[in-house]
Amino acid sequence: MTIMTELQPKLLLERLEEKVGRMIQQIGGRCPHTAGKESGIYDNTSSDWWTSGFWPGLLWIMYDVTGKEQFKDAAWDWDANIETWFEKESQELHHDVGFQFLSTAVLKYKITADRDGLRRGIKAANYLAGRFNPAGNFIRAWNGDKYGWAIIDCMMNISLLFWASEVTQDPRYRHIAVRHADTAIQYGVREDGSVNHIISFDPQSGAFIEAFGGQGDAADSGWSRGTAWGLYGFANTYRHTGDVRFLNTAKKIAHFFIAALPNDFVPYWDFRLSSFAGEPRDSSAGAIAASGLIELAALVPGKEQWMYMQAAERILLSLTNNYGTWDQPDHQAILLGATGHKPAGAAIDVSLIYGDYYYVEALAKLSGWKHRIY
Ligand code: GLY
Repeated sequence: MTIMTELQPKLLLERLEEKVGRMIQQIGGRCPHTAGKESGIYDNTSSDWWTSGFWPGLLWIMYDVTGKEQFKDAAWDWDANIETWFEKESQELHHDVGFQFLSTAVLKYKITADRDGLRRGIKAANYLAGRFNPAGNFIRAWNGDKYGWAIIDCMMNISLLFWASEVTQDPRYRHIAVRHADTAIQYGVREDGSVNHIISFDPQSGAFIEAFGGQGDAADSGWSRGTAWGLYGFANTYRHTGDVRFLNTAKKIAHFFIAALPNDFVPYWDFRLSSFAGEPRDSSAGAIAASGLIELAALVPGKEQWMYMQAAERILLSLTNNYGTWDQPDHQAILLGATGHKPAGAAIDVSLIYGDYYYVEALAKLSGWKHRIY
């Protein structure tokens, strides 16, 4: 593809129509999570894994912006598929039911008014609300014996609770979301706008204990994807509540994120490393932040909007020109250069389905797509 000098979201969506049509054939019935840089083949991850909603979410957006039935047909069954895990002995359903059901059941309901989508979305919200710890005012992360852990990523999952309060008119979901967000401001966001990945509390008393680096380099580092989750999550929380503390938190995180971007505007996997030489990027963090920055731009006064829009467009243009697979028709992903979990040595410099999802989501927003799931 020739280099774009200026971002052209509508033109890119036309290209994506062809690309995603091909991906449907290539991916078939698999549940894609990671595609290797060389092989270009998406894996088949179990659909209880936290990333299972992103491929169908991408398909739903493509259906909504093009009206083409092939996208709807490929997306339709996914919320039913993921729902089956509620009845099985899954260790993988946890706080991330937000990611999994917002981009399947909730988006399906918003686009098609499907009553099963509505029912499954509310069921997932009930499950998420059930993970709230009222002593520490946080939604518990993951499973196992870490009863007192919460993570910054969950700022995205709480949109499921705001949505559930809207559709049921029951404010309890919203109360939980706001309390969790308050806790995340207090312990998850640092003065300089960088974030902690994991914060830990005594699950009995609710007292704060400590923060961990998690998927970032260290307890005091700046995991770029976590920063993107925080930026986007607090922007949404402001939109849902109108409470300016959440807006100011989103802005603070955005300022740190933008200031820490390298020359090509696509983040390294962590913003605070002793050296960046040879370190991988995380294009998924760039795509998530771009979509969040577009949201933030819509929430700030008119004279400030350009700052966030300019940053979003710069990231998206670089992703398009430097990280796209446009010239590799056999490659099953859209973006290269993502990093899943560097400290664990997992998914380094690969393609990740959530990078593809948020890239498409951001371009759809810039082309006038109006539905919002977060
Ligand atoms: N939610 C986990 C991650 O961002 O990798």
